[in-house]
Amino acid sequence: MPIQCHVTRPPGTHGGDERLTDQLKTEAIARLAGGVAHDFNNLLTVILCYVQLALDGIGPEDAVRADVLEIKNAAESAARVASQLLAVCRREPEAPAPLDLTGVIQDASDIVRRVVSEDIALEFDLDGHLPPVEADRGQVERIVINLVANARDAVSSGGRISVATGHDADENRVFIRVTDTGYGIADEVRERMFEPYFTTKAPGKGTGLGLATVQAITVQLGGTIDVETIAGRTAFTVSFPACSAPVRAHPAHRQIARHRAATPARILVVEDDPLVRKVTVEVLEEAGFEVIHGEPGEALAQADALSASIDLIVADVVMPGMSGPEVVSRVQRKHPGAVAVLMSGHLEHPSVADDSARTGTPVLLKPFKREGLIDRVRAALGQRAA
Ligand SMILES: Nc1ncnc2c1ncn2[C@@H]1O[C@H](COP(=O)(O)OP(=O)(O)OP(=O)(O)O)[C@@H](O)[C@H]1O
Ligand SMILES: [Mg+2]
Repeated sequence: MPIQCHVTRPPGTHGGDERLTDQLKTEAIARLAGGVAHDFNNLLTVILCYVQLALDGIGPEDAVRADVLEIKNAAESAARVASQLLAVCRREPEAPAPLDLTGVIQDASDIVRRVVSEDIALEFDLDGHLPPVEADRGQVERIVINLVANARDAVSSGGRISVATGHDADENRVFIRVTDTGYGIADEVRERMFEPYFTTKAPGKGTGLGLATVQAITVQLGGTIDVETIAGRTAFTVSFPACSAPVRAHPAHRQIARHRAATPARILVVEDDPLVRKVTVEVLEEAGFEVIHGEPGEALAQADALSASIDLIVADVVMPGMSGPEVVSRVQRKHPGAVAVLMSGHLEHPSVADDSARTGTPVLLKPFKREGLIDRVRAALGQRAA
């Protein structure tokens, strides 16, 4: 008989005072973890950007190249842990909008394929006529990637994984189902598998945050998770209430004008963290831009004193004394032609996503890599020129 477990809310939420205490504890942990992830993201930005600069200076045959690539891999893994941590703590959806789950999975299919190796068959069985659900694209991708990664770890080579979507018309719910032909889940694992940091994998192989992330996102979106497992067939079904609003177009499908600078643009970098500021300035200068920089007070004074125009402001969102959006609007009074790019490790903070959507200012998530920064800057300058 397949074992079924139905999850609608995190374990440990009971009633009365106990529930309140649990909630306060959860909030304190979420704040702490969010703060740690924020500091982590700043440090990882510095590491990833310097690693890239170092790699550029090392020839392909150089003996230290392999070591530096290992540093890069480790930093990228650390960035994934920080983003999982933020996802577990996140209380509000980032940007929920009516979405077609089939479309989201099709768009992410390349990334999903990269999660599994070639000796495992990955099949997609997607329903092309789903009603939309209210969700965030990144969150749906995270659910699928985590479930597929677990399925990959459970099947040996020659195994099969299927990613399906469908609509349960009786309940008016839309589901994503990830099925694998792996070894199944033992009772004692099933009882604990949604706990943060619970893992049966070898050290360095799993952090135990995958299913905690899937659960946190699902509960937040009003969804449920069903697990059926026997040796040879395990299926995780995540379902959400269907909604009736029409699906909004994915912004990635819009064409962004590329800017190849004929004349070098002048950029003001505003960031309170000295290491992140230093590496941001170095990357932009190396790409041929003229850069002025400082923490908010210094940066405003420099912008005021400057007679030439500023083309672009790159500003951190959360800084002591003055927020990034505030700095941008003050600089724009003197330099009305300046466009902006905000940097943040805090997109989980609803106001960051709201501000960005309202003002149309792009947000660059930390940790970013050199190419990510340069692409975002060029796209912003290109839109200004358009
Ligand atoms: N499809 C599956 N088949 C068998 N066991 C599974 C499956 N999915 C999850 N598990 C079990 O649940 C545990 C917890 O999964 P979870 O995704 O939370 O963490 P992890 O995969 O160990 O680490 P991480 O996802 O953070 O890299 C796993 O270690 C594994 O024992
Ligand atoms: Mg996992």
